[in-house]
Amino acid sequence: MSDLAALLQQALDEVAASDTLAALAEVRVRWLGKKGRFTEQLKALGALPASDRPAAGARINEAKQQFVETIDAAQASLERAAIEVELSAGRIDVSLPGRRPGEGTVHPVTRARLRIESIFTQSGFEVATGPEIEDEFHNFEALNIPADHPARAMHDTFYFPDGRLLRTHTSPVQIRELRKGRLPLAMIMPGRVYRCDYDMTHTPMFHQVEGLVVDENVSFAHLKATLQGFLQAFFERDLQMRLRPSYFPFTEPSAEVDMSCVFCDGQGCRVCKHTGWLEVAGCGMVHPNVFAAAGLDAERWTGYAFGMGIERLAMLRYGVNDLRLFFDSDLRFLRQFGAA
Ligand code: PHE
Repeated sequence: MSDLAALLQQALDEVAASDTLAALAEVRVRWLGKKGRFTEQLKALGALPASDRPAAGARINEAKQQFVETIDAAQASLERAAIEVELSAGRIDVSLPGRRPGEGTVHPVTRARLRIESIFTQSGFEVATGPEIEDEFHNFEALNIPADHPARAMHDTFYFPDGRLLRTHTSPVQIRELRKGRLPLAMIMPGRVYRCDYDMTHTPMFHQVEGLVVDENVSFAHLKATLQGFLQAFFERDLQMRLRPSYFPFTEPSAEVDMSCVFCDGQGCRVCKHTGWLEVAGCGMVHPNVFAAAGLDAERWTGYAFGMGIERLAMLRYGVNDLRLFFDSDLRFLRQFGAA
């Protein structure tokens, strides 16, 4: 029993020497476990005379109690330290720049479309759209292309089994807008169109933008001025424009629109096939039969319409020499185009 003080001191020294939670747990077992040294002391009481047992037992329990308090405190402080370490390791430096999601770019065709829309809306045009799945009435009949018309064959149409079709041009949107009867009107109608055609310069889906202006006393001169103004704005340069007589069933008279080549300034190069001219649109004055199909009085109303390929304009504006690049989804190509 006289060793008790020394024993306690040894136990406390072991606690003090333990610098990890695992070491501390070992010390706890060594002293308080079933075969622990304090436990042994208590077991040894039986060997003492009965009169000495209470006092000796009390002293052992007191020493044991002091040990328990010390080791509990040591354990708590090691646990706190462990939490501190964890916290400071995971500390967030709020002054670091955040991780930004990769920024996408606007597809060049979309970029060209937005550019076209912005130029026309600035001059008072509205933007309208129509369905890509059309019927023969809107895509052909109402546009003065009856079933036996040779122009139907030129359109390489994708048909659905029920007779509906993928629109071959944006002109059916003209009919849809005219039939709303809200005149006068000035609008452009951009969108996807489909033709069963695929080679270097044709893809089965491409984009057009249709233009339509209807009012009283609209003339061919208005059409010419609008197209010339648009092309100058779109290409941001002075350029020559010429109208070549042509034929579309839904316009009369009709013309093909050429502009001086933006690559050689009309001198002649590979892009313009040494003609100095680039064909960029079809146009004409709205045919009386189109007004009639829309239920409008062709004696009162006059109008002009035009249609342009957006990929074509994008290629010329951004210097892209292969149409298929627009549809390959190659990020190295697409990343070269920023916002509109
Ligand atoms: N719809 C014609 C085409 O796809 C283009 C066009 C539109 C021509 C409007 C004249 C007027 O080729």
